Amino acid sequence: MYSNTGTMSFNPRCSFCLRLRGTYRFRWKRATVVIALCMFIIMMGAYLRKHRTDVQGVARRLGELEPLESGTQHEERKRDVDLKEHIMTLKRVYRALEEPWQLNQTTLRRVRSKLQDQLVSARTIFFTKRTTHVGTERRFPRKPNETFTVNKNLYNHLIQENPLNLNGYRKCNVVGNSGILVNSQCGERIDGANFIFRCNLQPLHQYSRDAGIRSNLSTLNPSVLWVRYQRLENKKSKRLFTDIASQYSGVVAIPTGGASGLKWSLRAMDELKKSSVSAKVALIDPQHILSVREFWKHNVTGTISTGMYLTTLALILCEEIHLYGFWPFSYNQYGQPIPFHYTDDLQKPSIHHHMSDEFNLLMKLHQAGVLHVHVERCT
Ligand code: CDP
Repeated sequence: MYSNTGTMSFNPRCSFCLRLRGTYRFRWKRATVVIALCMFIIMMGAYLRKHRTDVQGVARRLGELEPLESGTQHEERKRDVDLKEHIMTLKRVYRALEEPWQLNQTTLRRVRSKLQDQLVSARTIFFTKRTTHVGTERRFPRKPNETFTVNKNLYNHLIQENPLNLNGYRKCNVVGNSGILVNSQCGERIDGANFIFRCNLQPLHQYSRDAGIRSNLSTLNPSVLWVRYQRLENKKSKRLFTDIASQYSGVVAIPTGGASGLKWSLRAMDELKKSSVSAKVALIDPQHILSVREFWKHNVTGTISTGMYLTTLALILCEEIHLYGFWPFSYNQYGQPIPFHYTDDLQKPSIHHHMSDEFNLLMKLHQAGVLHVHVERCT
């Protein structure tokens, strides 16, 4: 059966040999199919791993990188390697965001109808005199085990009815507070939408070139009253507060996170009522915040950020959504450090939010054509 060259050969007259040859041929065919299948699986695995690094792995690694304080030589070397990897990841995210984007209205409507199914509707955003009465009970989003009751004082602070156009808006821009906006020159583009959402009553005039000046709905997180306005304790801080608030139009919406926040919010509302601020001031119903959190609970753990909350409002109210100033990372695509906020006073990131989960979610919505995340310069 073996030739003098050492290879296997078959005697054509031997029926056993012929059967054996048939078996070998058959096995070779099978082996080729199995090898091709394995190679396909390996290649798919590599592709999916790369894709995961692009979108889902971004923030977890950034989270690990955040504390870049000095340590031993070994730690410093590791930190340098991590930093390089981190910046490579950010570059990939930038590249993904630079790819042509197209609005997918069908998917946007599908997301909206899912939100409405879970009672996240534009009708129920605010506490209004029309829909709330003295004695209404609510849970605080920060401490869901604690309830509070709407008393006469709180009721007197409520707006009469929902100030939003419940038929919705055509094109909306949601402006986050990231330092990525510094020198972006995106002000004009941001102001070009039909409806503009802003976070936490940032000063407008001095940042108009990069962040724009128009506003239709801005939040005022009570924590900003501590950080920027020294709890409205003196004349100077009160004046600064009303000066900045007077740059706003539309609605200033105050979330009710917890008991002490609510106390400070009512004080801020009193201050605005005394001043010449033209924007309407409204309290967000905590039930609405809890419903939004419940809706995203599989994507974002814990409290959602102001930017994510406003993006959700845009999903229920707008036909086309663009996001600016959303970049919760410490570096840009060139590896240059960037501040956390585009204003220089509020420097500390909030410890309550899971910005990385949120950014992953925004990337997914961007790639599905539901909304457009902008991180490019607008020049
Ligand atoms: O109230 P909160 O602490 O959530 O917000 P902020 O720090 O005033 O910023 C407003 C929003 O901008 C955040 O909720 C984020 O959605 C977004 N943001 C971001 O994406 N990247 C940053 N570096 C800072 C803020």
